[in-house]
Amino acid sequence: MWTIHGALCFAAEDAGASSITGVDVMEPSEQFTAEIERRGSKVRFVNGDVHEPATVAEIGMHDVVWCSGVLYHAPHPLLTLQRLRELTGQTLLLATETVAETPGRRGTCVIAPGRDEHPNAEPATAADQGFGPWYWGIAPSALRTMLTLSGFDVVEEFRTPFHVTVVAR
Ligand SMILES: C[S@@+](CC[C@H](N)C(=O)[O-])C[C@H]1O[C@@H](n2cnc3c(N)ncnc32)[C@H](O)[C@@H]1O
Repeated sequence: MWTIHGALCFAAEDAGASSITGVDVMEPSEQFTAEIERRGSKVRFVNGDVHEPATVAEIGMHDVVWCSGVLYHAPHPLLTLQRLRELTGQTLLLATETVAETPGRRGTCVIAPGRDEHPNAEPATAADQGFGPWYWGIAPSALRTMLTLSGFDVVEEFRTPFHVTVVAR
């Protein structure tokens, strides 16, 4: 929802997805609601924390799960991946910020500094509901291991500096 107002849902709808659920701990924005109306969209929205079993049950399993910009905000990213595994019928598209690999030591994660110290951090807002901080810096090799531990097979990976998009089954 944050800054994109459901754009991932509408991209999926434009690509031909037959049923789409948007999920965010933030409430639906006015822009999102207006776009649903304008399109006559069938996008369904679940307002909840994806870590909560009740939220996962309400969302239900989907063939394709597209999760962007969430993992490094989660205090327990392996739990996030576990919940995404419960939701994913076939394919996970996971986009996340990363940190550089540590020379001589693959698979590193660092607990990130507080939001005020982080160069990319945005000012805190009430709408964050505790999910604003950048808790984790995750190297791409660590992300692969975490996905494997969570029951995914990584089939494609697209890296740019400090960001990766992974396709996993
Ligand atoms: C950095 S924004 C990314 C927004 C968008 N997905 C994108 O790719 O540009 C993170 C979004 O994830 C949501 N979020 C963070 N933690 C969440 C959680 N545990 N459950 C559901 N939504 C969460 C935030 O409210 C926010 O809208």
